Amino acid sequence: MKEVFFAGLLGHPVRHSISPDIFRVVSEELGLPTVYKKINIEPKDFKSSIQFLRSSEILGGWNVTIPYKQKIIPFFDHVSKEVQMTGAANVVHLKNGQLYGYNTDIYGVLKTLEEQKFEIKQSQSMILGAGGAALAVAYALAAQRASKVIISNRTKRHAQKLIRRLRPVFPKTEFISVQPEKIGSYVSATQLFVNATPLGMEGFPKISVLPRNCPRGALAFDLIYRPEKTIFLSEAQKYGLKSVGGLDMLIWQALAAWKIWNGKIPNEVQLKSKLQKYLRSVLKRN
Ligand SMILES: NC(=O)c1ccc[n+]([C@@H]2O[C@H](COP(=O)([O-])OP(=O)(O)OC[C@H]3O[C@@H](n4cnc5c(N)ncnc54)[C@H](OP(=O)(O)O)[C@@H]3O)[C@@H](O)[C@H]2O)c1
Repeated sequence: MKEVFFAGLLGHPVRHSISPDIFRVVSEELGLPTVYKKINIEPKDFKSSIQFLRSSEILGGWNVTIPYKQKIIPFFDHVSKEVQMTGAANVVHLKNGQLYGYNTDIYGVLKTLEEQKFEIKQSQSMILGAGGAALAVAYALAAQRASKVIISNRTKRHAQKLIRRLRPVFPKTEFISVQPEKIGSYVSATQLFVNATPLGMEGFPKISVLPRNCPRGALAFDLIYRPEKTIFLSEAQKYGLKSVGGLDMLIWQALAAWKIWNGKIPNEVQLKSKLQKYLRSVLKRN
């Protein structure tokens, strides 16, 4: 009999996550019986929960989401280069009693842009927002030698903090913090616009942060996947931009997590499109 793989998502809240749907399909397709649970951890219980999960070795693979992507860092025995540089992890592998931390959001961003045939090298991008997801996007772009990354955020010091973290790591990329009301002069030379705020997500104000007069043919990337067609993406289409939502990134980061836990995925591209179709129907239902 095949061994069962035990994994879970740690966060607060985790109720709306579709990660269990993703890993159910992956485990069925790859024939590895898997139990994947959402684990809602109250902030006051975070430390004791991590200590328990670690010592009990119940779960081999953990996903980590808001608000713990940074808080988990001190618990690791080993971290990937991306975790070291960004200070955020979304994947944990518990192996031989040791905790390994990874950031596969960056990979999710890169695969999404690759599928969109977006040429990162020498490009100019504008990221709206300066939280954890914005950091993953900025890291991904700079790691692929983008020439300019503009961060526009309502709280200036958060944008500046993000830039202070990345500038020494990627001296060849120019990072600029621009207040939202002053982005006008940067728009025409920008090839990629990324919504890394929750604006437009279910339960948040339906406001588009996409600047006016974006150049036709630029790519608009909304990290939000619920709803699938956000106001940011609708505006992008109206202006003649190419557009992609957050579902692709979500799937790619999950597939990367699976590979860390269980090794190679044969026919990964086919599995990705199967997941995409299936998750669209899940999101429509919920
Ligand atoms: N597709 C995926 O796989 C994936 C993965 C990760 C995240 N995401 C999505 O990415 C988005 C950001 O996530 P995160 O983890 O980066 O969140 P976060 O760390 O909380 O950062 C949120 C950012 O949005 C800004 N913001 C929040 N409310 C705003 C408002 N009302 N007006 C203007 N700006 C506002 C914040 O600005 P301040 O600095 O001023 O507070 C901050 O820069 C979410 O929608 C999340 O669902 C998607």
